[in-house]
Amino acid sequence: MVETNAPVTGAVVVVGTHWGDEAKGKFVDVIGQDADVVIRYGGGPNAGHTVMVGDATHKFHLIPSGILNAKAVCVMADGMVIAPEVLAHEIATLREAGVTCENLRVSQNAHVILPYHKRLDELEEIAKGAGAIGTTGRGVGPCYADKASRIGIRMGDLLDEKRLRERLDVALPLKNKLLLKGYKDYAFTPDVIVAELRPHIEVLRPFICDTQAVGYDAVADGKRILFEGAQATLLDIDGGTYPFVTSSHPVSGGATVGTGVPPTAIGQVLGVVKAYTTRVGAGTFPTELLDERGDRIRERGHEYGTTTGRPRRCGWLDAFALRYSVRVNGLTGFCMGHLDVLAGFDTVSICTHYTKNGERLAHFPAGDVSLLDGCEPVFETLPGWAEVEWDKISRFDDLPANAQAYVRRVEAIAGIPALMVSFGARRDQTLIVSGKPAPRELFTLPRPSAFGARSEVGAVATTRVGVL
Ligand code: IMO
Ligand code: MG
Repeated sequence: MVETNAPVTGAVVVVGTHWGDEAKGKFVDVIGQDADVVIRYGGGPNAGHTVMVGDATHKFHLIPSGILNAKAVCVMADGMVIAPEVLAHEIATLREAGVTCENLRVSQNAHVILPYHKRLDELEEIAKGAGAIGTTGRGVGPCYADKASRIGIRMGDLLDEKRLRERLDVALPLKNKLLLKGYKDYAFTPDVIVAELRPHIEVLRPFICDTQAVGYDAVADGKRILFEGAQATLLDIDGGTYPFVTSSHPVSGGATVGTGVPPTAIGQVLGVVKAYTTRVGAGTFPTELLDERGDRIRERGHEYGTTTGRPRRCGWLDAFALRYSVRVNGLTGFCMGHLDVLAGFDTVSICTHYTKNGERLAHFPAGDVSLLDGCEPVFETLPGWAEVEWDKISRFDDLPANAQAYVRRVEAIAGIPALMVSFGARRDQTLIVSGKPAPRELFTLPRPSAFGARSEVGAVATTRVGVL
């Protein structure tokens, strides 16, 4: 029998609970200060993280936010799709800012986003017309499609030009047929692709390796491993609101595929949730506020995409979706950001569940976006909180009482504890909730031992609580 109360080292996974942009990077940055290894397991340059440390603002699309801990090994694992020019640019920008990238490791198995993937992303979106997904246009979907079709080019292929050309000789005729005959567009030649790649390959060469081995060794050596999720639960290709999803597995399960770290090595799974909910791109969004309240959240929260600059759609916190996220990720706690953005509302609302055709739904209808059609969100309304001097807050207990009560209510609805909150972009504006473990302790907490804790708002079994 496993002794669940004995302190054991377990990996920590951080995932987004809704449709992305939850400010995962901010919490990863704080927890990452205490990690030995930080691993990003999926997605590509469709992600956008902004982390502010002191006077410096760092924007990342590919490199995990964990790079800001110079002592941690920072891994981009097999599940990622990588645009070499974007990665080379991020490395150069970080170096200029004095951030060492020496500990970066890039998986030889991660797939390469090539110019034809970006072009096909654009053309597919146009061809879909009213059914367009509203992708970030970074070539992510077509790159994952080639991975599944087994015509992808992988980072390891870049290390040997002869091999790279052999792989392109397989992929390009297929792609060009589609581009020329299907889309009446232009074709790509291997010479141009290779010539464009060459300077980037030279920058990236030292970083490309077998990152699964890095993962295995980290587990074997009892290292503190942090998984940095990109995108979010409702964008998961299986568990999200298909087809308005991304092409990877942002859920916690994605953390172990191709990273060298088995599921049994994971201890805690933390969900990053915004105090309200946003989404970019198309697809039903039940708690969306289409009035001035939504506009106000957008302006106060600077809710414009880091990757595409698009205005984000804003709405009240969808805690029904959060409860789904608790279940599908096995969340053991949550971190709530953007509490300052809701300041100034007389009242704030939380969606506890949906009704459809007059019936209360027991579970968030995940898996297909059409299931959300006709769903009516049911809200609980709580007193709001006024603007305060956020700069002066240094403890959770100093937050406005109603903001604290809001966090506590979300805990009760989600059935899991709140561990951290944040109310600003700076690192010191992320705080640990009173009485909750410091980031370093997260790696040595007992593993989750039992499931079946219940939310206060219904009979939906969520997940275990207890150890935190
Ligand atoms: P971070 O890591 C928000 C959304 C896109 C689109 C759909 C598919 O910053 O939270 P894709 O380019 O992936 O094929 O687009 O997924 N999307 C995101 N939305 N934040 C992200 O990442 C996203 N990554 C993809 O807007 O609706
Ligand atoms: Mg984003």
